[in-house]
Order: sequence, then C-alpha cells, then structure tokens
Amino acid sequence: MIGIASGKGGVGKTTVAINIAYALGEIGRKTLAIDVDIALPNLDLYTGLEKPMITLLDLLNNTSDYKHAIYRMTDNLDLLPCGSSLHAMQEMDINNLKEVVEEVSNAYEYVILDIAAGLSKFTIVPITLSQEVCLVVNPEPASIQDAQKVIAVTKFAGSHLCGVVVNRCRKKQHEKDAEARLGVPVLGCIREDKEIRRSIEEKTPIVVWKPGSAASKSFNSIVRKICGEYTSQNQNFRGKLIGRGL
Ligand SMILES: Nc1ncnc2c1ncn2[C@@H]1O[C@H](COP(=O)(O)OP(=O)(O)O)[C@@H](O)[C@H]1O
Ligand SMILES: [Mg+2]
Repeated sequence: MIGIASGKGGVGKTTVAINIAYALGEIGRKTLAIDVDIALPNLDLYTGLEKPMITLLDLLNNTSDYKHAIYRMTDNLDLLPCGSSLHAMQEMDINNLKEVVEEVSNAYEYVILDIAAGLSKFTIVPITLSQEVCLVVNPEPASIQDAQKVIAVTKFAGSHLCGVVVNRCRKKQHEKDAEARLGVPVLGCIREDKEIRRSIEEKTPIVVWKPGSAASKSFNSIVRKICGEYTSQNQNFRGKLIGRGL
C-alpha cells in the first residue's frame, strides 16, 4: 500500500499516482488505484472513467458492495474512484476507510492511494494506512516547506517514507535541493512537460499514451525503485495492521 501525498495542492499527486499505477500494471503487477482525495477527486477524470455509478463514497457509507465500485482499466490495473456527491461526502465517516481498504486490497500486489493535500483527517487517516508514503513536491520553496510537515506526520503515523518525486523539475539542482532540504531520497524527477497536460486532456496517462517519452521513462524508473524498496520491506499491509494491534 503506497500513499501518494503532498503538503501543497496541485503539485502533481494525481498525475504521479495514476502513472505509477499504470506502470505497475504494465509490468504485470496486480494493482489497485484508490482515489482517497475525498473532497477533490480526479482519478476518474484522468483515466477517462466517466461518471462512475458506484464509488468509494458508497463503500464508506456502507450502501454498496465493494465489487461494484472497482473498475477494470487494464489487464492488471483496477480503479476505485471516489465519487463526487456532496451529500454522500457529508454522510460518510473517514474512519471507515481502514475497513474498506482492508477489504478491497486483498487481491492486489500493490495498492496506490491518491491522497488529498493538506493536513486534515482526510490526509492523516490514509497516510496512517499506507505502508509506504511517496511524497510529491515541486521545486518551489512553499511546496518543500509544506512537505516537511507531511514528513513529520508520516513519521508520527509509523508509516515508511519511500522517497520523494520532484515534479515539474526544470534543472538538476532542483533534485539536489529537494533531497537536501527534506532529507528523503529522491525516487525520481519529472520534468515540466506540456505533454503531461495533454495526456490529461486525452484522459490517458502518459506512460500509456507516450511510452517512449522522457516522462514515461522517469515514471518507469520510479516504479522499478518502488518495487525494489517494497519487496525489501518484506511486510504486507495486513502485517502492518496486525503489528499495530488494529
Ligand atoms: N510534470 C508536469 N509538467 C507539466 N504539467 C504538469 C506536470 N505534472 C502535473 N502537471 C499539471 O499540473 C496540474 C495539477 O496536477 P495534479 O496531478 O492534478 O495535481 P494534484 O493531484 O497534486 O492536485 C494538472 O493540470 C497537470 O496537468
Ligand atoms: Mg489530485
């Protein structure tokens, strides 16, 4: 279970989450991407999954079976979208997320959580559930400063920080600065790239739309690192929950 998180909003979490999820699927890893950005979900939009009927909100509200909320995207990638009903959002209890995620995760090798920005309970609950947390930052000082708080929360939650993705990077120095200021290894840098914006318009993640592009190569390299890291942790999500007596 890998949570994709950031302090500041709009830094590229959904872009990174969906490309990592598709790239994992492409190398044959059974993967589920879950949109846990409850207030501002986007995963459905970024993948062309138009107006899904049954979503995470239904599962959090106990009004549907999880099998109806999971959508097959590719042979090895499923998606659990969030849904955008304000009424359902008001009704739901984020504390049910642990039970839902535990139930839906069983059939997968990797579960990618697209987590909201900020530091509310909507962020902290999924960070706590994540075995690994991958931070996304932009080179801007505000993004790095806000990420420092997420690092503190992640450590407090007992989750492991697998690294940081520096998105919209424009020079090598940005990678060095982020690593020095955050004290977390850089998993990879994604260049500022207008093709990424176009891939969103195309509703097709860039790793699928332009597999040979520099951005796709960077995402694939990040995924190889994540796979190595995850395997070496030798611990599954259930193990983490049991380990905490949950
Ligand atoms: N490397 C990049 N180069 C250019 N535009 C990008 C890049 N990464 C993300 N974007 C754009 O930035 C915007 C915010 O990205 P998004 O993934 O939705 O951020 P978040 O989920 O953190 O709010 C989107 O319009 C996306 O197209
Ligand atoms: Mg997002």
